[in-house]
Amino acid sequence: MGRVAIVTGGTRGIGAAIAKALKAEGHTVAATYGGNDEAAKAFTDETGIPTYKWDTGDYDACKAGIEKVESEHGPVEILINNAGITRDAPFHKMTPDQWNQVIGTNLTGVFNMTHNVWNGMRDRGFGRIVTISSINGQKGQFAQANYAAAKAGDIGFTKSLAQEGAKKGITVNVVAPGYINTDMMSTIPDKVMESIVGGIPVGRLGEPEEIARCVSFLCGDDAGFITGSTISANGGQYMT
Ligand code: CAA
Repeated sequence: MGRVAIVTGGTRGIGAAIAKALKAEGHTVAATYGGNDEAAKAFTDETGIPTYKWDTGDYDACKAGIEKVESEHGPVEILINNAGITRDAPFHKMTPDQWNQVIGTNLTGVFNMTHNVWNGMRDRGFGRIVTISSINGQKGQFAQANYAAAKAGDIGFTKSLAQEGAKKGITVNVVAPGYINTDMMSTIPDKVMESIVGGIPVGRLGEPEEIARCVSFLCGDDAGFITGSTISANGGQYMT
């Protein structure tokens, strides 16, 4: 059954792969983005998926943006919290601004989006919420105290909401990718990257489509018994 889905950060990388996969499943997809107009235009030209620009770290912007999507496409039944940023630094060098930016987008942004679709999902008795966490929220990572804290927070948030949504037909789950072949990897120095790939038993980076596959599975009407779960897709790099 085709439903209305929002994918945050849905015009590039993992988010773009998720948006395409949900469209291929017959859903009506809206992809949000934070700033890269050129990438958003190219994405719409390629896929026909409409894009919407707002900062998921801003509660009022999320509220207004979701209202616009709903007025154009109907009530949001699937939410994919994918938008995420890194501001890596060893902790002794990490600034409050680096901390706040990452918590603001990667954790508060998830609250802002989810809070604005939650009551509608409760009223209608159906919802699918999937948040993209990270292997580094599960195991921690050198130079990522901010990112790991936010991504671990996403898992606790999900487990709590899964309990609240269960009787209302809303499932809430996490996909925790390992190192995936996207622009986000470009900030990692080559030498560090070599040692990261060396630690992945599968012997390569993951592809965005391999994460999208997990997400579309969790969004199925027939996935109603799976809630509060974390699917790790990391090539065997970390097993919880
Ligand atoms: N483990 C242990 N030591 C590490 C390390 C690691 N993973 N990464 C860097 N270091 C060490 C370096 O070897 C260096 O040590 P020495 O001083 O002894 O030579 C030291 O840390 C670097 O110190 P600097 O003061 O020079 O650090 P910097 O301020 O230049 O910062 C860095 C460099 C930001 C840490 C950079 O090395 C980096 O980006 N590392 C990668 C961090 C990372 O893995 N981020 C994940 C991004 S991908 C992602 O987030 C997506 C996802 O969900 C998986």
